[in-house]
Amino acid sequence: MLADSYGRVATDLRVSLTDRCNLRCTYCMPPEGLEWLPKDDLLTDDELIRLIGIGVTRLGIEEVRFTGGEPLLRRGLVGIVAATTALRPRPHTALTTNGIGLARTAAALAEAGLDRVNVSLDTLRPDVFEKLARRRRLHDVLDGMAAAAAAGLTPVKVNSVLMRGVNDDDAPDLLRFCLDHGYELRFIEQMPLDAQHGWRRDTMVTADEILDRLGVHFDLAPADADTRGSAPAELFHVDGGPATVGIIGSVTRPFCGACDRVRLTADGQIRNCLFAREESDLRPLLRGGGTDEEIADRWRAAVAAKLPGHGINDPSFLQPSRPMSAIGG
Ligand code: GTP
Ligand code: 5AD
Ligand code: SF4
Repeated sequence: MLADSYGRVATDLRVSLTDRCNLRCTYCMPPEGLEWLPKDDLLTDDELIRLIGIGVTRLGIEEVRFTGGEPLLRRGLVGIVAATTALRPRPHTALTTNGIGLARTAAALAEAGLDRVNVSLDTLRPDVFEKLARRRRLHDVLDGMAAAAAAGLTPVKVNSVLMRGVNDDDAPDLLRFCLDHGYELRFIEQMPLDAQHGWRRDTMVTADEILDRLGVHFDLAPADADTRGSAPAELFHVDGGPATVGIIGSVTRPFCGACDRVRLTADGQIRNCLFAREESDLRPLLRGGGTDEEIADRWRAAVAAKLPGHGINDPSFLQPSRPMSAIGG
């Protein structure tokens, strides 16, 4: 079991498969990209599969999420998914992606046993997409979502980060589109995790604002809070129907008290929180003949040291040095 000193138990492993990405969203990366992790530092497919296996068979991991950067850029992705779904007890599996290339790989991922996908989509307007992601790829994303739904990688969840003056007007259209296609939309408050350290509290579009804006066009009723568990998204039923929209209010409505997550970076670091200041390097054991139990012990110790929350709202808050693209969403 992966327990921390506040009584939380991590059962959700989020594995970053690469720090690279084929988009350059302004809230994440500069136009020129970042200095990517050196190849020798990256875990091989076999090393990743071994660690996921230790998590599932010895440490109580029940759900494995593949993230990035952009995880579809990892060549061995389908094999890693297949090895993960072959584990017993079989973990739930999910992928968080920008959707580019998903049209090509959705069927193979489903075949490998992947359960579902979450796709980032911040606007439906091609020119706004290009301004925001600095690439003209909106149609690839939409095709990817449709292919995922057709392959049964459902529910397809959609993540939207709203930015004031850029895409905040798009919220109602995004919701209408997702309702029409059967996708589960969640709006996300922007967090201070961008590589450029450009996040500002006063430009962040808050959960309250998003709800106000949607409330003009839709009737929103809070879904049963008892079923939320450790989910970051607070759900609202739309127009009296079963369909929901989610709000992930990480900053103004933090959910750290119910956190069940632990992260593995593409270079083999255990991070006990998105905002962790310290990491625990599993590579020396992995590459130096460590046993599964020794690795599990180091992993347990890393989670045990988890802090109670992200501290974004503390005056002394310092942004982690690793950007979101190198941590995994
Ligand atoms: P599911 O709803 O089960 O699919 O999971 P999820 O919502 O955690 O998945 P996803 O990877 O799509 O994450 C969506 C967003 O939630 C991310 O972009 C983050 O903004 C936020 N998020 C995910 N994990 C954390 C976390 O540990 N802490 C905080 N504060 N936010 C998180
Ligand atoms: N704050 C909140 N969400 C972010 N994402 C990327 N950067 C940030 C940030 N600074 C989102 C992406 C994607 C998910 C993995 O994380 O939009 O949907
Ligand atoms: Fe968990 Fe850290 Fe995210 Fe809070 S910020 S929910 S403690 S990972």
